[in-house]
Amino acid sequence: MAIWNLGSINSDMIYAVPRLPGPGETLAATGFRQFLGGKGANMSVAAARAAAHVLHVGAVGRDGRWAVQRLLEYGVDTRHIAEVDEPTGHAIVAVDTDGENQIIIYPGANRAIPEALVDAALSQASPGDLLLMQNETNAQVRAARQAYDKGMCVCYAAAPFQPEAVQALLPMLDMLILNAVEARQLQEATGLAPGDLPAPDVIVTRGAEGTTWLHRGETTDFPARPVQAVDTTGAGDTFTGYVLAGLDRGLPMPQAIAQANLAASIMVTRHGTADVIPDLRDVQDLMGA
Ligand code: RIB
Repeated sequence: MAIWNLGSINSDMIYAVPRLPGPGETLAATGFRQFLGGKGANMSVAAARAAAHVLHVGAVGRDGRWAVQRLLEYGVDTRHIAEVDEPTGHAIVAVDTDGENQIIIYPGANRAIPEALVDAALSQASPGDLLLMQNETNAQVRAARQAYDKGMCVCYAAAPFQPEAVQALLPMLDMLILNAVEARQLQEATGLAPGDLPAPDVIVTRGAEGTTWLHRGETTDFPARPVQAVDTTGAGDTFTGYVLAGLDRGLPMPQAIAQANLAASIMVTRHGTADVIPDLRDVQDLMGA
């Protein structure tokens, strides 16, 4: 099996701040670092670090060759990443001393992925492969329809959350991953509680409160590993990449979620995004501890 990830690629400018700025406020950062990021790239790297075969489908501008090179170095198949005329996407990320963040994204090339590239990539996928998407690219419905028709497993991480984006995909989804706030927003928009959504697998992440898996009328809760968080950026992406990689490696869902929770718990103790996502060895060390 393989994971096909139609996903964003960003240059993350991460600023350490004493607190998140308010409206109209100018605030001096106490630190700055640049990372490979984007929810899509983070998920691809997480899945690759968790030993899955990941093919990233996306786009960068001419200023983004470094990002493609870095994905390749991290074990992601990059042959379906186009170079387009738009600049590479970027994100301005402020992280406060409690590890909480505020993110502005400039989509750039992530919203200019050529549809022909998506079609050509998915024409090479096999039934049973996984299609992963998040809401930072164009062509989501197009990709989902092709994957659905082909008998792929269609998975969606509903971030950044837009109810209409999820609703357009819902009939084709096998798996939906969203956080507790997004689950509430989706319920307000559709009138459906997470357990009533048509997707056979719904996973609700609740940060320090753990994770809930809803599957065909059954609800299973998984505890989070308590840690001191210094930066929550990319933790959800790490979780998603690990869940899919676990399933891709043949793990039952409960084990895939348990590993993903551990990976996310390590991630929140690190500053940065794709470049610092833990690998399977880090997670297995914790499991043996
Ligand atoms: O989820 C974290 C990610 O959101 C960052 O890497 C940033 O690029 C934005 O896409």
